[in-house]
Amino acid sequence: MKMNIALLAGDGIGPEVIDQAVKVCNAICNKYNHEISWRPALTGAAAIDAVGEPYPDETHEICVSSDAVLFGAIGHPRFDNDPSAKVRPEQGLLKMRKKLGLFANVRPTFTFPSLIDKSPLKRERIEGTDLVFLRELTGGIYFGERGRKDEGETAFDTCTYTRSEVVRLAKKGFELAMTRSKKLCCVDKANVLETSRLWRETVQRMEKDYPEVEVSYEFVDAVAMRLVQWPNSYDVLITENLFGDILTDEASVISGSMGLMPSASVGESIALYEPIHGSYPQAAGKDIANPLATVLSAAMMFDGFGLNEEANAIKNVVNKSLEKGVVTEDLSEGAKSFKTSEVGDWLAANI
Ligand code: IPM
Ligand code: MN
Repeated sequence: MKMNIALLAGDGIGPEVIDQAVKVCNAICNKYNHEISWRPALTGAAAIDAVGEPYPDETHEICVSSDAVLFGAIGHPRFDNDPSAKVRPEQGLLKMRKKLGLFANVRPTFTFPSLIDKSPLKRERIEGTDLVFLRELTGGIYFGERGRKDEGETAFDTCTYTRSEVVRLAKKGFELAMTRSKKLCCVDKANVLETSRLWRETVQRMEKDYPEVEVSYEFVDAVAMRLVQWPNSYDVLITENLFGDILTDEASVISGSMGLMPSASVGESIALYEPIHGSYPQAAGKDIANPLATVLSAAMMFDGFGLNEEANAIKNVVNKSLEKGVVTEDLSEGAKSFKTSEVGDWLAANI
């Protein structure tokens, strides 16, 4: 198969982890006779510096004319502590999600057998965890009206959802549940928020179309607690943008490190694959960041193309590196650790 992949390395550790994913993908292409043409493009602070805009039109053109997008990370500390900054790298990410119509962010949470005892959570709680969050990605408070009033003394962000936005996300949730254990949890705050009541009402109406799926409705605060207490009780969870952002960071603790969790953003046509972690500026350029979340995002990309054998080859080699202790310092626990680039080389060589 011939694939054109837009390669958006972004900021911070983005370029380093993306490099390792490229090595791994190229090794897969060699082994299985595929051809990837990588199409690098600018995003984030790097794009602001180069052209004054975090998601330039040229980058968008490259994305829409590719078969998929592989994305690193976005964000730079020089913007975080400057509330008056007019353009921010994160705006690029949000604009990209919106313009590419990526309304569903698929974030799986699973455990790695060799890492279970490294989790701060007890083995008996987390063993066998295999759940998927479907986070709504182009609506809610991230995209609502916001601003200041009263001469800057009052600030507001508004959360808005339309029924059709809920339907298209929930539909993906029901469909995914049908391919798994047929359990769906709708996470909301319907005891307080009107948008949550719309979510709940909409999902309730859809239940009749999926009679085999057992749906539960839980408040987000309760899910935050139960997720680390009884992760095994969940399978597919659907939720709005901000709740999904927060809960998926929390869920990464179950796997052992934020540096392990991949994601796929899907929607109207093209899909984008990205690690759930951020740009981790403290580690940028040091060759110490964990590349596995990005490598596993590349595995999700092969799955997205229907190339499951290739995807499994990546997941297997990642498991093997964890078993053999070929890991970056976030996972080495005082034992010998490997550089980001060394982990990438090892993975590519062992495919
Ligand atoms: C994520 C990130 C982004 C988000 C930030 C960088 C805007 O935290 O992908 O989870 O909040 O969606
Ligand atoms: Mn996040």
